[in-house]
Amino acid sequence: MKKIMLIFGTRPEAIKMCPLVKELKSRKGVDTCVCVTGQHREMLKQVLDAFSVEPDYNLNVMHEQQTLFDVTERVLDGMQSVLKSVNPDVALVHGDTTTTFASALACFYMGIPVGHVEAGLRTYNVHSPYPEEFNRQAVSSIADYNFAPTALARDNLIREGKKPESIFVTGNTAIDALGTTVVQDFQHPDLTWAQGSRLVILTAHRRESWGEPLRNIFKAIRRVVDEFPDVKVLYPIHLNPLIRQAADEVLAGCDRIRLTEPMDVITFHNFLARSYLILTDSGGIQEEAPSLGKPVLVLRDITERPEGVEAGTLKVIGTQENVIYHEFKTLLTDEKLYDSMSRAQNPYGDGLASKRIADILIKGNTRL
Ligand code: UD1
Ligand code: UDP
Repeated sequence: MKKIMLIFGTRPEAIKMCPLVKELKSRKGVDTCVCVTGQHREMLKQVLDAFSVEPDYNLNVMHEQQTLFDVTERVLDGMQSVLKSVNPDVALVHGDTTTTFASALACFYMGIPVGHVEAGLRTYNVHSPYPEEFNRQAVSSIADYNFAPTALARDNLIREGKKPESIFVTGNTAIDALGTTVVQDFQHPDLTWAQGSRLVILTAHRRESWGEPLRNIFKAIRRVVDEFPDVKVLYPIHLNPLIRQAADEVLAGCDRIRLTEPMDVITFHNFLARSYLILTDSGGIQEEAPSLGKPVLVLRDITERPEGVEAGTLKVIGTQENVIYHEFKTLLTDEKLYDSMSRAQNPYGDGLASKRIADILIKGNTRL
């Protein structure tokens, strides 16, 4: 029987790997094993609980304000013994985190084939996003299966000289997840609070924005909210204390800005679906918003998700205070722009990515 191990450790990897775990576990003739690194703790548990996924192994590596060194070392070391005892036929990693990189490296050292889910995303700037662009490029150099979410991602890999027979365009499993989370009859106290206002969802956590850029983002948002009495901002803050501290400094004390704990994925997706617009530096949200028809101002200098920009839903606006202030204000006042950005477009898949990946791995189906 073919043994497939899925390895992940942070919230976004979990959201996009759990649909694949479910799919593989539903298939006959395959032994599916889940190893989480625990790079995230509470934020990972929220996702595992939402999808009712019980990991077989948990390396439990997270500690407060961990460094890239801490996570890399602990994942590499922990994966060695798990891989030795399971010895899977293939190990699947996702995306571009330190968990992704270090666990793929552990597989490479042990001669275990690697399947890379969400392969081929690129900015070609190793400093942005940092260190994710390096991680994804490094994993591509050792992956045996490359599950590219879009044709554009496949083209990047082809240009880099990856073997075409190792690349499969599957769609993004984020869309699979979205298909199960958004419901009609969603209720929440924060939704009651937002009633009658234009609800803006904010998330910001990127490493390259820690410090001044993050404060610039918050200052700009605060200025706009002060000028628009019909706007309310809901910000579920990442558990990193650095982020919470900056958010408290600039955003606290305004009754139309609500700072909350991270939301479980079902709650969060339902808020996205009911929002007026989204401000974010997240990768995953850039994939989710286009299919929900929600305009996104991307709080970064560059994106590896140009399909959403092309579709008209995403606009990359950087981290400078005055630019964010101007762009946010324009989107609130320019109806034509708002309408054109909120047309639902979904360049990221049809919700069947997990099925395709499972077919390829189990049946050895080499082309779609
Ligand atoms: C990581 C990924 C990033 C991804 C993000 C998703 C790397 C280098 N970065 O960044 O690519 O976009 O996850 O959110 O892999 N913390 C908790 N509880 C949690 C999670 C985090 O307390 O459940 C706190 C801890 O103090 C931890 C800190 O957040 O040390 C940072 O977590 P870490 O995974 O190192 O970095 P992220 O910024 O979350
Ligand atoms: N998300 C969530 N709860 C929140 C904020 C985000 O479930 O409070 C989801 C979001 O829908 C997306 C993923 O988490 O699927 C994005 O995670 P994050 O922004 O932490 O990481 P990135 O995508 O930037 O790597």
